Amino acid sequence: MATIIRIEDIAQYVGQEVIIRGWLYAKTGKGKLQFLRVRDGTGIAQAVAFERGVAPEVFERVQEVTQESSIVVTGTVRADERAPGYPGGYEVGLTGLEIIQLAEEYPITPKEHGIEFLMLNRHLWLRSTQQWAILRIRATVIKAIRNWLDDHGFLLVDTPLLTPAAAEGTTTLFEVDYFGTPAYLSQSGQLYNEATIAAFGKTYCFGPAFRAEKSKTRRHVMELWMVEPEAAYVELDECIEIEEQLVSHIVSTVLAERRMELEIIERDVSKLEIIRPPFPRISYDDAVEMINRLGKDQEISIEWGEDLGAPQEAILSEHFDKPLFVHHYPTEVKAFYMAQEPDRPEVCKSVDLLAPEGYGEIIGGGERSGDPDFLEKQIERHNLPKDAYSWYLDLRKYGGVPHSGFGLGIERTVSWICNLPHIRESIAFPRMLGTIYP
Ligand code: 4AD
Ligand code: MG
Repeated sequence: MATIIRIEDIAQYVGQEVIIRGWLYAKTGKGKLQFLRVRDGTGIAQAVAFERGVAPEVFERVQEVTQESSIVVTGTVRADERAPGYPGGYEVGLTGLEIIQLAEEYPITPKEHGIEFLMLNRHLWLRSTQQWAILRIRATVIKAIRNWLDDHGFLLVDTPLLTPAAAEGTTTLFEVDYFGTPAYLSQSGQLYNEATIAAFGKTYCFGPAFRAEKSKTRRHVMELWMVEPEAAYVELDECIEIEEQLVSHIVSTVLAERRMELEIIERDVSKLEIIRPPFPRISYDDAVEMINRLGKDQEISIEWGEDLGAPQEAILSEHFDKPLFVHHYPTEVKAFYMAQEPDRPEVCKSVDLLAPEGYGEIIGGGERSGDPDFLEKQIERHNLPKDAYSWYLDLRKYGGVPHSGFGLGIERTVSWICNLPHIRESIAFPRMLGTIYP
């Protein structure tokens, strides 16, 4: 009796008759000898069909079957170092083939396709080995985050996606009609988790966030996934340490569990192997000085008081081979909730983490203000509707504590870890400026 197997487990079945249920990735060979590369979602295995070794009707189907047809292959597993596949080194001597659905001419062929065409066919492009590898790495990034937070005393608390007001500024809000009143898709669960930490100590939310970013860049999506840890009695320095531990754990987990995928995308793993604590830290003041010094040749500069843009971040993050913390940004450029530095109120206890190799910001966070009067003024200054935040101010009246937190963007983190040229490949179905198909 043949066993139904998953290709990722193929090594355990050498010498045995197996059944693989999947799709035809590619077919090569001529005449009497045909090589079918079969995918099943967990890997790719080569099935070899020899005309004289199988029944005539089976060989007819081998010849007829088209790229991406769904198929069930039966055969015997052999170890063969030269056999291509993921994992390579094993092949199946085909004895049976059933075609579940004979695919029409498949639009994505081994030739080069333009990115626009591939994005319009994203629903099919996901089957390609590169995309498959990236999204498997993404799943491991998410698993690593959850495991680390669960193991370090953070409780998962889900925060709402329909919200009455902005968390991160009013310019990137998606408005929806909430029974006749305007509501907004959440930009961040942070404000709610500032409430939940008073119930649970350390919490995190992990879900989609929405940003109506009117910019078409290689690092912006409209719908992103963000993990947002928040912790009571944690000040800026400790927040930085948590970020450093978490990011190191993500990278080491990917290195341990996704070697094959990193190889498929030809990632230089030496760049990831050095991602261990401590990460360098510089103040915004020093960052300004560095950008103006290092950016001279490329005519990239910054004046004190301006926010870092992508080019400025790239200059800094190319200069370090580990992620870089930039802390104490000007209070003016950051969100309303950031705590001011008491001796220097023009800067706040904010910290961004910039990924190396030019990727720039993957985390934003810092210590939150505990001062209800300051926050009230900030809410006014940022043109936020006061009523919608009264619950938030309550948190400073009933047992306020120093607390900090941060948000890590999954797509940007995956883009960095996979060294992707553009964020669109870091998520299955990206939402970008002007495009919502498929
Ligand atoms: O820096 P941001 O806006 O911070 C917050 O939302 C805080 N409330 C987080 C917190 O402290 N709990 O966003 C955090 C991260 C960014 O560093 C980036 O990785 C990602 O979310 N991000 C985006 N990624 C892709 N496309 C966009 N449009 C993004 N906006 C934010
Ligand atoms: Mg930010």
